[in-house]
Amino acid sequence: MVFTLRVPKQPDGVKPPLTGELPATALQSLASKTFGLYLHVPFCAKRCGYCDFNTYTATELGGFSQSDWSAQITTELQLAKKVLGGFPTIQTIFIGGGTPSLLPAADFEKVFRNISNHFAADIEITIEANPDSVTKSSLAQYLDIGINRISFGMQSSASKVLQLLDRTHNPSAVSSAVLTAAEVGFRDISLDLIYGTPGELDQDWLDSLTTATALPINHISAYALIVEAGTKFANQVNRGEIPMPDDDIAAARYLQAEEFLNQRNFHWYEISNWGVAGAACRHNQLYWDSANWWGAGAGAHSHIGGLRWWNERHPATWAQLLTAGHSPAAGQELLSTAQQFDEQVMLGIRQRKGLPVSLLPAATDLAELQAAGWIEPSALAQGQLVLTTAGRLMADRVTAEILR
Ligand SMILES: C[S@@+](CC[C@H](N)C(=O)[O-])C[C@H]1O[C@@H](n2cnc3c(N)ncnc32)[C@H](O)[C@@H]1O
Ligand code: SF4
Repeated sequence: MVFTLRVPKQPDGVKPPLTGELPATALQSLASKTFGLYLHVPFCAKRCGYCDFNTYTATELGGFSQSDWSAQITTELQLAKKVLGGFPTIQTIFIGGGTPSLLPAADFEKVFRNISNHFAADIEITIEANPDSVTKSSLAQYLDIGINRISFGMQSSASKVLQLLDRTHNPSAVSSAVLTAAEVGFRDISLDLIYGTPGELDQDWLDSLTTATALPINHISAYALIVEAGTKFANQVNRGEIPMPDDDIAAARYLQAEEFLNQRNFHWYEISNWGVAGAACRHNQLYWDSANWWGAGAGAHSHIGGLRWWNERHPATWAQLLTAGHSPAAGQELLSTAQQFDEQVMLGIRQRKGLPVSLLPAATDLAELQAAGWIEPSALAQGQLVLTTAGRLMADRVTAEILR
């Protein structure tokens, strides 16, 4: 298939990325940086009130069929292969959503079939799953086709919190899904948690952490509930039906999580992510290190060597473009050296490994940051800027201090 250009936003001097004309600098980075794939599955059985991810229920798909997903993703990956001049070794794949677990393993297998000769020997393949959309058989099949890491959206162990979040699962579905995943052979299991939902008590959060860590998992992502504009939840907050999540409560919950998880050998490696030794998500690491990835699927974002682009958001539009032999990209930007530096600071500061002090602008007032108790003195002595627990709560302020 010959792909033609259809990228509306073209900053001056930037060659269209998706016709096989990546800038030389971007192509060069393929040789030196890790490469991964993100595959977006834009389907959900029901939209949770707080979520603004690019996902659609059956009636919102505008004629696009879930059963066409694997063929269209395969088409986009053919485009990727052409643009990249062949795939580099694929170190990680992340199948995210939406709810990827709505699709059968056979769909992912069809996608893998054409690219598996590029897989690294120790490839990490993660799938996101809703606790109530898996069965023993579907989990066994995912593992069988090579998916070796699974992340379940637990959110909370409190029924009232799950109800307020509009989740379709009840608390017992999480234990059942995780135990079944472990039983069929998954060794890398992660849980997503949300804290600071209005009505959640300290004890509810403690119960969520207790329930999660009692399960055979090795990784936790925990995020404060964000009120995303335009969501049902934001409308309820605006109408005064639900109070706004409180920042101080969220900060207290973060500290509670840090202490609790440390005691159980889950250590932070990124502000919102904790794992036992060796369980860090390699795919997310690739984002935080500004490495290279191709995001295939409706609304997916890609980044190769400072060039970023993103696809049309609606699955029907994305698929129509691919079917017509066009690129599904909706826009792109080439990051300047200064923008790449800002990003390196913003992402680096959120990680346990931190930032080399030698990289920071000379005007950075490290003494002040240290006096505030926000950076680790021992790491500083070794030339790294690493946030303390208190500093992690102030990560945006520290970033602003460095980039001012
Ligand atoms: C896009 S979902 C995909 C996983 C799966 N669909 C699920 O919900 O279980 C990934 C995670 O994003 C998090 N998330 C989505 N919207 C959020 C929000 N407004 N605030 C905090 N976390 C959010 C949820 O914890 C969810 O588990
Ligand atoms: S949180 Fe997960 S299940 Fe809920 S709407 Fe978002 S992607 Fe779908």
